[in-house]
Amino acid sequence: MLVTIDNLLDAPRLNTVREMLKNAEFTDGKLSAGKEAKMVKNNEELSLQSPLHQQLNQIVMGALVQHPIYQNAALPLKLATAFYARYTAGMSYGFHVDDPVMGPMSGRYRSDISTTVFLSDKEDYEGGELIIKTDFGEQSIKLGAGAAVIYPSKSLHKVAEVTSGERIVAVTWAQSLVKSAEKRELLYDLSQVRDTLIAKDPQADETGRVSRSYANLLRMWSEV
Ligand code: NI
Repeated sequence: MLVTIDNLLDAPRLNTVREMLKNAEFTDGKLSAGKEAKMVKNNEELSLQSPLHQQLNQIVMGALVQHPIYQNAALPLKLATAFYARYTAGMSYGFHVDDPVMGPMSGRYRSDISTTVFLSDKEDYEGGELIIKTDFGEQSIKLGAGAAVIYPSKSLHKVAEVTSGERIVAVTWAQSLVKSAEKRELLYDLSQVRDTLIAKDPQADETGRVSRSYANLLRMWSEV
């Protein structure tokens, strides 16, 4: 399931993030890549030593975690701090799957959900589509600045070569309360129906039954 969030970051937040990244120190993205990813990864990332990470994460991760679509689609249990990646002309990231287990030994987590937050305007670069292999073929995703896409970390994906301009994104991962992507999709559909019913008639019998089914399925399937 691919889910997009339009306007995850509003204009003031987006501008703050862009300003902070404008003169920041970026380093070779291969430094943070696993063995296989190293071969196909050709981008730059905000230096891990950068003092900007804390403030950036407050803005970007804060908006993500508070967003109802993210909450319902990802059902996050543990969140990684975001990476900020930059692609200039000639850069790309070939097909790969994200590392299955991330974090230091003291705080490891499984990556179930990957998220890309687009920080550059679509018009500011050519190429640079996020291409995800799905059961229904390859999906090509290029969203406007401030929008985000959520996709299963198990899916093969790549970033097409940027042929001109500059593509800056934030990427992050989460361990979900619900490991199975299929179950998460069912829960997400059900959460949409529940919300519609609640808006129409919160006291109706069918609202209560759908709401209870959602809550109890989540209880049955969540692992903490
Ligand atoms: Ni990836």
